[in-house]
Amino acid sequence: MEGFNEKEGQLYVDDLPISEIADKYSTPAFIYSASLIRNNYNKYANALTEGDLICYAVKANSNIHILKELVGLGSGFDVVSGNELKRCIKAGADPKKIVFSGVAKSAEDIEQAINEGILSINIESEDEFDRIVNISKALDKEVQCSIRINPDIPTGSHKYIETGLKTSKFGVDTETLSIISSKAKTTPLIKLSGIACHIGSQISDNSLIMKSLEHLLEAHKLLTNDWHEINFLDIGGGLGITYKEEDPGDPESLIAEISNEIRALNLNIVLEPGRSITGKAGVLIAKVEYLKLTEYKNFAIIDAGMNDLMRPALYDAWHTVKEIQKSDSDKRIYELVGPVCESADVLAKDRELVISQGDLIAFMDVGAYGSVMSSNYNSRLKVPEIMVDGSSLKLIKKRESFEDSIALESDL
Ligand SMILES: Cc1ncc(COP(=O)(O)O)c(C=O)c1O
Repeated sequence: MEGFNEKEGQLYVDDLPISEIADKYSTPAFIYSASLIRNNYNKYANALTEGDLICYAVKANSNIHILKELVGLGSGFDVVSGNELKRCIKAGADPKKIVFSGVAKSAEDIEQAINEGILSINIESEDEFDRIVNISKALDKEVQCSIRINPDIPTGSHKYIETGLKTSKFGVDTETLSIISSKAKTTPLIKLSGIACHIGSQISDNSLIMKSLEHLLEAHKLLTNDWHEINFLDIGGGLGITYKEEDPGDPESLIAEISNEIRALNLNIVLEPGRSITGKAGVLIAKVEYLKLTEYKNFAIIDAGMNDLMRPALYDAWHTVKEIQKSDSDKRIYELVGPVCESADVLAKDRELVISQGDLIAFMDVGAYGSVMSSNYNSRLKVPEIMVDGSSLKLIKKRESFEDSIALESDL
């Protein structure tokens, strides 16, 4: 059976009981299902046609083994730092399938991207354009670029994951687009070959992405009037997943709608999905250290904290919690809190669970923006990551040791 499933009172990942994985690697730990990652990727891939490209957003989960899995499927990548670019290259990615987004690319980042010959540096400001021009001249190398537009579209998701508002730092307005377009006409080393847009994450209504496509098409008119040869529109990522009761659109219908609008223009589609590929493919497992039953609340104090899974504290995000093995304890409503000395260290509120001290629980749907956002706060050590594929299991990131965690502070 693929993915996370329950059999005889036990939570499984593919064919393996999670309790056995916990015995072997202890808790907390992230566990991923390779088959779910493949299935989610293929939902996009099967709907696209030749010349289109999926550039998985590395920021969602950058484990090299996950990137390798995606390289094997033919994926491209969307990176937002020089180090994400290095991870992709290390994972065997084809640079011609990499786009580079982000508002603060350093000179080194840009030089690296040009030297690798990536598909596109996505320009996010006029200053950045000028920097790219200078570096391309110094290197005497041609560089493929896209301009990321800011369409000023609210998505209704959490304000921290809105990226397409005119008050956001991302993308350029129409006036700046026009200025960059004119400048690019006189800079032969810069090839403007794409236009990009990403209005945010956890979007549950495909029509918002279609609205951003209208803005991309307007930008396409402007750039082609300036004689730029545009080959693709990069629609960004952003498709949501169901954490609780959200009902997001699916990749197939989104791609069908986009295709309808742009095929006549002889343009290819680039997409940058992150969450919708890895989000539902991962869980964080944790152990109940103590139950603290008070007059006001029942706390389940667990060994995973906000440093391991930051989304609840940062975005008030909901992750379903499941018992890994059914026990015969009392059913109660709990607040699940971690060991971090912060009142924000609450991973889930008001959950009805049947647990006792020592039991294992799983936070579902943490494959995206889970491990990548973890930190060493309170000198806590980064937790391991394990990939399951059918009945095989692979440790894809070791548990950090205390020595690892102080290595950069030692022997100075
Ligand atoms: C430029 C860009 N592309 C793609 C993504 C991936 O978004 P998601 O994980 O929601 O698909 C992000 C994340 O916000 C982003 O900033």
